Amino acid sequence: MAESWVIMVTAQTPTNIAVIKYWGKRDEKLILPVNDSISVTLDPVHLCTTTTVAVSPSFAQDRMWLNGKEISLSGGRYQNCLREIRARACDVEDKERGIKISKKDWEKLHVHIASYNNFPTAAGLASSAAGFACLVFALAKLMNAKEDHSELSAIARQGSGSACRSLFGGFVKWKMGKVEDGSDSLAVQVVDEKHWDDLVIIIAVVSSRQKETSSTTGMRETVETSLLLQHRAKEIVPKRIVQMEESIKNRNFASFAHLTCADSNQFHAVCMDTCPPIFYMNDTSHRIISCVEKWNRSVGTPQVAYTFDAGPNAVLIAHNRKAAAQLLQKLLFYFPPNSDTELNSYVLGDKSILKDAG
Ligand code: DP6
Repeated sequence: MAESWVIMVTAQTPTNIAVIKYWGKRDEKLILPVNDSISVTLDPVHLCTTTTVAVSPSFAQDRMWLNGKEISLSGGRYQNCLREIRARACDVEDKERGIKISKKDWEKLHVHIASYNNFPTAAGLASSAAGFACLVFALAKLMNAKEDHSELSAIARQGSGSACRSLFGGFVKWKMGKVEDGSDSLAVQVVDEKHWDDLVIIIAVVSSRQKETSSTTGMRETVETSLLLQHRAKEIVPKRIVQMEESIKNRNFASFAHLTCADSNQFHAVCMDTCPPIFYMNDTSHRIISCVEKWNRSVGTPQVAYTFDAGPNAVLIAHNRKAAAQLLQKLLFYFPPNSDTELNSYVLGDKSILKDAG
């Protein structure tokens, strides 16, 4: 093997937003959830991670740079992903350059990883979801792992739970699974990105500050203290998952919007039911909810669904372009630029449901 070569692979992965939320782990190490969840994968133009992975015999150790700054790879989550992909590495051959890496070589070779988010890291915009999905996908390509997207999702899951859903475009279900080793806790595509492509997703960035309670800590405290979570996971979510899949398959926006808003509200109720309570939304988030609820009620049929993750930013899913235009008008009216309640920016996904990772 010549010693001066480098092989590189670049991948781009969008983030995803859950419409039926994952909140709570039954196994923290393997990242196994207490319930199924469903998400929509966003537009890769606006909210995505681009990751380049490189291998060379001249690299002395595994290293990673996030947005240009070197970060430590010592955390268990990165190590889990690297270990799992290395275990599945296959022979790689570049005939033109005379490079041959055998399955065994991968145990000794080190990788360098450079990853960029085109949106604020850890601002409640699910940066870890895109990040780990992209990392796993890029490493799998580099190491010629033969696993399909679902199998890779079970590895991305060990980086960050929500990451497993970013391996697919369209609407995606993360099946919680049953077996102890977590091998059946993986993502499957419900419908692809073309199925419901008149939806428009708008993110109203209420604050791009880093959240006070990380999802990981927050959900640990919820699992330890909230009785409401147990009721939610056992009684509510299993029924909602069935109804949500139906709504998506039938493109029934009224039912989709009802379930999405109800599930977001219940997730935040569960956060409130945690001891001490966790507040992710703020006054502006609450005003956005009131605005959407009032509008939907006044029209009679829902035009927009809202959902909030572990932060104050609103993800608004409009039925179609017309509803999206009206929504933007309303947001500008109620939260005018240069006022106290100005929304920092909007991320508008026109073709908002796009392709699979890579
Ligand atoms: C509120 O996937 O960030 O966005 O598995 O600990 O990394 P870890 O948590 P993470 O949690 C996401 C929570 C959520 C809901 C969701 O995406 O389903």
